[in-house]
Amino acid sequence: MESIKSYVQQHKDRFINELIELLKIPSVSADTAYCQDVIDTADAVKASLEKAGCDNVEICETAGYPIVYGEKMIDPSLPTVLVYGHYDVQPPDPIELWTSPPFEPVIKKTEIHPEGAIFARGACDDKGQMYMHVKAFELMMQTNTLPCNVKFMIEGEEEVGSVNLKTFVENNHEKLKNDVILISDTGMISNQQPSITTGLRGLSYVEVEVTGPNRDLHSGLYGGAVANPINILAKMVASLHDENNHITIPGFYDNVEELSLEERAEMAKAPFNLDNYKKALDLNDIYGEKGYVTNERNSIRPTLDVNGIWGGYTGEGAKTVIASQAFAKISMRLVPNQEWENITELFTKHFTSLAPAGVTVKVKPHHGGQGYVTPIDSIGYKAANMAYTETFGVPAIPVRSGGSIPIVALFEKELKSKTILMGFGLDSDAIHSPNEHFGIFNYLKGIETIPLFYKYFVELSK
Ligand code: BES
Ligand code: MN
Ligand code: MN
Repeated sequence: MESIKSYVQQHKDRFINELIELLKIPSVSADTAYCQDVIDTADAVKASLEKAGCDNVEICETAGYPIVYGEKMIDPSLPTVLVYGHYDVQPPDPIELWTSPPFEPVIKKTEIHPEGAIFARGACDDKGQMYMHVKAFELMMQTNTLPCNVKFMIEGEEEVGSVNLKTFVENNHEKLKNDVILISDTGMISNQQPSITTGLRGLSYVEVEVTGPNRDLHSGLYGGAVANPINILAKMVASLHDENNHITIPGFYDNVEELSLEERAEMAKAPFNLDNYKKALDLNDIYGEKGYVTNERNSIRPTLDVNGIWGGYTGEGAKTVIASQAFAKISMRLVPNQEWENITELFTKHFTSLAPAGVTVKVKPHHGGQGYVTPIDSIGYKAANMAYTETFGVPAIPVRSGGSIPIVALFEKELKSKTILMGFGLDSDAIHSPNEHFGIFNYLKGIETIPLFYKYFVELSK
């Protein structure tokens, strides 16, 4: 522990500067305008793995963006940790809401991060958290403390659904063989109270299109006499929740796992302050499904949310028009046992059935994935908890998260191994939002905690 601490102290400025360089490359996977930057980021990750001491580092081409692979196999009789992360980032927009440019990282102090935080798109999700693993590996190599084998698999399409990673995993069972998968791409409760993510929600993402007349029409000449696709879409979307904020799609809740009252009581023990929650978001009240509290609504319950809705005239001034078409992007967060493909089907059937005569409706599925839950009695969980306990001075609390990393369920299915989600981000780090940042404290704490995970995982595996 002392040697870990002193190595981090000695090299922390370089660790920060290297991450800043990586954050300067705008690896936005959703937008083809950034195509070359995404590829350049893969090359930068490859170089960083080589420099840290990985062998057999390669760029694995896929039908989309490449996967960076590297390994250090020290002894086949020792356990193998597979580290997964992603080097792609979310689009930075709305860009005008950033207080400094998203790809020009700067360190600023905040109330929650008095030691400073790096502001940049991807700082927390996931370049910063992924890079902690590269630096922790460097540390173990340099201090001769790597206690087992390690493999790295860093992809560039997580933010767009990991479609090609799925194929890669299916085709590379032997190469990716491991005893535990380690990921830092989630969060923790606070810098005083670490937590380990024990659940992720699944996802079904769809786009809908409502078409009325064959062209945009004068809203005076035609208004009232034809169906207005935007009015209709708004009505259809509104009907997807009832007065208790229950989702109205028939069969939607059929497989939802209901937690026992004991399990819910256990969840309620995690520190949470409703006033602070509201204050952080400038809300006068919370909102959600009847019968559940906030921390249940955003983790163990499935949801349906419009992520974007458009159509008609949205430019300056007023234009009197009935649009020919209206559109929306809708995500459904799912819980374990809900099959995402089944949910997509149920949505499609129900949504098209809602369309009145006078419009046609199309549903286009985007991507999806299964949810995940992991037990807290596994060696991996125990090792993670021991590591956090040592670096934070208090044990970690298990928490089910509302976010999704769909590939985690696939790892279990294909590679038959459990994933340990050691996240070091905070909810206030604004991932996917303007002004995303990652605390310097969190970054360095991560680099300190990860080697201890390896140590305890190997000890407990004996
Ligand atoms: N790292 C996030 C997921 C996350 C964040 C989980 C915080 C738990 C806590 C990941 O990069 C992400 O954004 N996933 C997407 C899903 C993906 C299929 C686009 C998500 O959750 O929206
Ligand atoms: Mn992520
Ligand atoms: Mn993300």
